[in-house]
Amino acid sequence: MCGIIGVCSGPEKKFSTGEIVYKGLLRLEYRGYDSAGVASVEEGTLRVLKGKGKIAELEKKLGLSKVKGSVVIGHTRWATHGAPSDVNAHPHTDCTGRIAIVHNGIIENYRELKEELVRKGHVFKSETDTEVVAHLIEEFYRSGDKPYEAFKKAISMIKGSFAILAVFADAPSMIFFAKKDSPLVIGLGDGMNLVASDIPALLEYTRRVITLRDGWVGFITKDNVFIEELGKGPVNPADYVRVVEWSLESASKGGYQHFMLKEIHEQPRALLDTLYGLRSDPALKEAAEILAEARRIFITAAGTSYHAGLHFALTVARITGVLVTPFIASEYESYSRVVREGDVLIAVSQSGETMDTLKAARAFKERGARLIAVSNIIDSAIPRESDLPLYTRAGPEIGVAATKTFTTQTLLLSLLAVELAATRGDLLKSEYEEYVGELAKSSEYASKSLAWNEGVAKKVSEMLRLKHSIYYLSRGIGLPTAMEGALKIKEIAYLHAEAYPAGESKHGPIALVEEGFPVVFVVPRDQYYEKLILGNIQEMKARGAWVVGVAPEDTSLRDLFDVFIKVPASSWITTPITHTPPLQLLAYYTSTLKGYDPDKPRNLAKTVTVE
Ligand code: AGP
Repeated sequence: MCGIIGVCSGPEKKFSTGEIVYKGLLRLEYRGYDSAGVASVEEGTLRVLKGKGKIAELEKKLGLSKVKGSVVIGHTRWATHGAPSDVNAHPHTDCTGRIAIVHNGIIENYRELKEELVRKGHVFKSETDTEVVAHLIEEFYRSGDKPYEAFKKAISMIKGSFAILAVFADAPSMIFFAKKDSPLVIGLGDGMNLVASDIPALLEYTRRVITLRDGWVGFITKDNVFIEELGKGPVNPADYVRVVEWSLESASKGGYQHFMLKEIHEQPRALLDTLYGLRSDPALKEAAEILAEARRIFITAAGTSYHAGLHFALTVARITGVLVTPFIASEYESYSRVVREGDVLIAVSQSGETMDTLKAARAFKERGARLIAVSNIIDSAIPRESDLPLYTRAGPEIGVAATKTFTTQTLLLSLLAVELAATRGDLLKSEYEEYVGELAKSSEYASKSLAWNEGVAKKVSEMLRLKHSIYYLSRGIGLPTAMEGALKIKEIAYLHAEAYPAGESKHGPIALVEEGFPVVFVVPRDQYYEKLILGNIQEMKARGAWVVGVAPEDTSLRDLFDVFIKVPASSWITTPITHTPPLQLLAYYTSTLKGYDPDKPRNLAKTVTVE
């Protein structure tokens, strides 16, 4: 969703506040990029610059980075209420133009509040839900409250999800903040303090951060942080400071044309880091024990993370006698109804902030289920609310399309499945060792798969750029990877793509197949499935399909493919790790050949913090 950032600095400041906010917005642009703006307090006056368009374009037009002032806040938007436009861009101001706010989230009761404020004479300029907060603050401020009191009272009246920053022309050294259900992190700098939606925006200035919790409000000045839990009392910031390991380099493009390409190529490293991290963390075994005792196991997530969840369910089904129920997070109501004590939910979310997944997790917890979280972001909302968090160590993922977080999730979840089987006594020692040994080679496998396929992916993309539709077919353990391949090309190359179990294709989808129709077959290394897929390939070819096979180097099917995308001959359990990287490259090159920006696909945001 949207990205917000604010900085407080003194007159002796090392960095320009305008530049800090501008650069921060660029780093947060993956969260939303239809419009942007900044507000600064300069010599007792509030200055707002904002407009529709990408941040770099707005910089040329408006000079966002040129604002001065001891406090500056900024916002990059992913529209929810009100179309992308100059007037709907944040910051939003009150009637006097002396209070400005930026907001990420949704104010659910904005209509009632707005009606009341309009009755009292407030004039609204935008169609957003956000603007109501600026006028509410103004209302309390006008009636005599000090800025912080007015801010707090306004916050206590709003319902929904929010990360909000506010500045007052009359409080030129302070940024007020409030958080509920949308992420917000404070960065403790040298002679300055910052606050932002996400850590990459802070990394150039500090690695000392405080992840704010739901219900917290407060303010920062250049050398002070005040936090309280609304209605409960002060919180000691020192108790929550932690030092993040991510480097600034890890959050920049490092010579690649796009973050997405860099992140695709970071997979071998990310897999290794995740593997080592898990080896030194007792949480994986603890999680396996919780699962082994569970009455029933559910796994939930959205988008790419759901595909990782599906891989877990299929893996567990194959190596234990346990049925895991996977479901799409936004559909949680159909599943949470049946939950009882003794059930366990695994919630998978790279960001740890996806609202659908968070809601599903909460619904299950309320009904007595235990919650295991799988995330890439330490201390994010879902891990924080879980009984046991497990972390991938993919590093920051800036490209909107998930890449390295998917393969690392599948590594973690495969290891968890194997541990579960071992805990239950479902595996022979030799089987256990074989699976763990294969998974330990994930980095090597991903590395080979990338090295072998850069060229062929470019060639296939030359064909795909001319197509309107594509199928991704597979069976069994290959299916989540086929689904991920289809999602990726749909997201960034805007190509209509569907994934099906190959056996299902003859029950309808095959009707679309004609001469030259592209079909990608994801062939796991598994004799049983290879034999079945052979029949499906022949059905497609008989109707003129152009068949791309992503298959192990020793496959018996290679002569049937029009294009053979060769991946390492490993165990079936590593299928997402061996087969996904070339599918990511296909999506990437098709997108760039069509002239799109794969890092910022239209209509999408990296972290979806609305339901
Ligand atoms: C993946 O490419 C998408 N950006 C999207 O489907 C994403 O996986 C989904 O929104 C879930 O995000 P999460 O893992 O942060 O919860």
